[in-house]
Parts: sequence; C-alpha cells; structure tokens
Amino acid sequence: MADIFEKIKANRGPIGMHAKESHGYFTFPKLEGDIGPHMNFRGKERLNWSLNNYLGLANHPEVRKADAEAATDFGFAMPMGARMMSGNSNYHEQLEAELSAFVEKEDTILCNFGYQAMVSAIDCLVDRHDVIVYDAESHACILDGVRLHMGKRYVFKHNDIEDCEKQLQRATKLAEETGGAILVITEGVFGMRGDQGKVKEIVDLKKKYNFRLFVDDAHGIGTLGAKGGGTGQEQGCQDGIDVYFGTFAKSFALIGGFISSDEQVVEYLRYNMRSQIFAKALPMPLVKGALKRLELMRNNPELKNKLWEITNALQSGLKNAGFEIGPTNSCVTPVYMNGSIPESTNLIYDLRENYNIFCSMVVYPVVPKGMIILRLIPTAVHTLEDVKYTIECFSKIVGKLKNGEYMSDKIASV
Ligand SMILES: Cc1ncc(COP(=O)(O)O)c(C=O)c1O
Repeated sequence: MADIFEKIKANRGPIGMHAKESHGYFTFPKLEGDIGPHMNFRGKERLNWSLNNYLGLANHPEVRKADAEAATDFGFAMPMGARMMSGNSNYHEQLEAELSAFVEKEDTILCNFGYQAMVSAIDCLVDRHDVIVYDAESHACILDGVRLHMGKRYVFKHNDIEDCEKQLQRATKLAEETGGAILVITEGVFGMRGDQGKVKEIVDLKKKYNFRLFVDDAHGIGTLGAKGGGTGQEQGCQDGIDVYFGTFAKSFALIGGFISSDEQVVEYLRYNMRSQIFAKALPMPLVKGALKRLELMRNNPELKNKLWEITNALQSGLKNAGFEIGPTNSCVTPVYMNGSIPESTNLIYDLRENYNIFCSMVVYPVVPKGMIILRLIPTAVHTLEDVKYTIECFSKIVGKLKNGEYMSDKIASV
C-alpha cells in the first residue's frame, strides 16, 4: 500500500518539480517597497509589470489613509463570526448596495476570497439535475466549482460560439430529460491571453436556448465599461449577465470578492452559500477599504483613462516593434515567444538582472510546450517612459533569444 507522504515526496507536481532551482527567484519572488511600477527585488529597483494594480489604487494616498484609519478604528477582528450569525455590519451592507449600483444589479453578496466565491457560488446555484456549460480555458476557480457539481457538464472550445451552441443543444436535451436547468459560465476577460469572453454573443443565444449566464469578471471590473462596471458594460450586455462575479484582488488592490444578481438570487446565496455561511465575515478594514476604493473609481474616471493610455501605448508599441501579442482586447498584455523552459528562465534572469525589468513568465504546462509568454500588466501609475524603455529592452532580449544566446541544458541557477 502507498503512503501519501512518500507519493508526495516522489512526485512534486509540474511546477513544484522546479522548486529547488526556482524558489525565491522565478517562483515566490519577494517584491519590496511601496506597491507600484518601481519596486525592489533582491535589493535592487526594478521596473515592475507583474501586479494587477490596474488603477494604481494600491498606494493611492487616500486608500492608504482609509486603510490605516479603519485598522485603527475597528482592528482586523471586527466583526466576529459569520455574517448570518454575528458578523454583519452596516458597512458590509453599504458596500453591497454600492457595488450593486456599480455593476447595475439588484443586489450583491460580499465574499471573503474571489476564488472561493466562484467555487462556492457554482456549487450553490446548481443541483444534480442541472447542466453546466463552460468555456474550456476557464480559470481554476470555475473548474473547481464545476468539479463539485454532481450533475452533467459540457465544455465548449475557448470563446467558440458555434461550439458553445452545440453544447447548449446537448445540455438542453439532457436538462429536458432530468427536469433540470442550464448554467453557462464564462469569463469577462481571460487572464492569460487577455481576450474578452464573447459575453454578448452568449447573451444573444438566450433567444434560442433557456439558460442563465454566470460571468467571472475578475479582470474586467474597474478596467472595462464606460463607468468601470466591467465587461458586460463594455459589450453593452450587462443586463444579460444573470450572475456577475468581481474580485477585490485586482483593480481594487485589496482582497475579497462579490457576487451580484437579482435580489432573490442573492438572498438565496446569502442563506445557502456554504463558503459564506460557514466562514467568518470579511474584516472591517477590508470593507471600509473597498468602500474608499469604489468611491475613487466612481469619482476619478481619469484613473481608467490613464490605464488605457498606458495599455494602448504598450500594446501598439509592442506590435509596431514586431512582437506577437495575440488576441488581447483588455489590459492584459501577453508577449508570445518561442523557446524551451531553460531558455525562458535564462531570458527572465537576463531581463531582471541586466535590464531591471520584472514581469511574469508563463510556460508549460500552463501553455503548450515550446511557448513562452511574458505577461505584462499595465497600470495607471506606469509612465510612457516605462513603456518605451520596456519595448527597447524586449527588442534586445528577443534578438538574443533568436540567436540562441539563452540556450543551455540547465535552468538558470539563482
Ligand atoms: C479570472 C479569475 N477569477 C477568479 C480569481 C480569484 O480571485 P481572488 O484572487 O480574489 O481569489 C482570479 C484571480 O487570480 C482570476 O483571475
């Protein structure tokens, strides 16, 4: 018989197998100093493109002040207990009301973590008679929610509306047999490639099929839509999104998340969503911090405008310099290159140590073997100078990559 610990010791997992050489540098790096485009890594200032601090709120003076005051006034223990039992407050309810208005829905439930919110909401909304139809490139939190589902699920090819319709036909047939209903799940913005989900096209399918649509808009909230209300607002179909998810972990530069929908659906979630019923409420400084951030988002449209000025300059500059950035139509800016894993680590090492640029790298198994993605996240606090410098440096490193200068049998040892 096997022993769990022995199995784990023998098989470290697809990323964990590189832990020894990578830890503290390629994985688990420590970025220090105030959050922004220039932070310290290993004691040296680097130009940083790897944080989802889209609107630059993380280090906004009003945000820092509000966070500090809330911590002083309430501490992090307040409120104690789950919302349903003893952990509710006027501020929690105020934040829910303001978020509902922001994303144009009737009501909202706050959740402690975005990931957990998605998993738990999916689990809560469907029963074993229901059928889930979801995008093949969905975030792990959607996949894990789907894994909890005891009924059938059909996956459609990423952003492929024809295939989505095909799966809806199968789902409809099955749901008619089981007496169940259909939940379609997709994302507002896919976080790796940066392409927006085809939300409007899916909403249009409601004319032919009977289903409810759940959209994970982690990267869309605050960055898309005339008023920052997300992908549905951007695509003119917010009404057609039945259940809307947003996280505080990106544009809000905080932690936590929320789900917005019709009043009765949110009430159902409040009384049935296991991750919220059986867990302590979001601490007051996070709630008050989110209220401040939302106020800044509503009152300062220039933050989003600046984010897009930087995004457009970065994306068009990269394209003009001959880089492949794929189908992104959001702020997420992936730069596609070809190379092995050792090459990618040598390239990142060179970029960090000799050009002082820090960005995230995505390699196999997240993308196909031989593909390297350098993923850049522009923010409202980057400058056009940062963009220009980065494109110049990228041109140099891609030249070196093509010349085989990063080739080595070994992953760069750090
Ligand atoms: C698409 C998507 N959904 C959900 C999450 C999870 O959000 P959180 O970090 O708030 O748990 C993320 C964050 O990585 C995400 O990118």
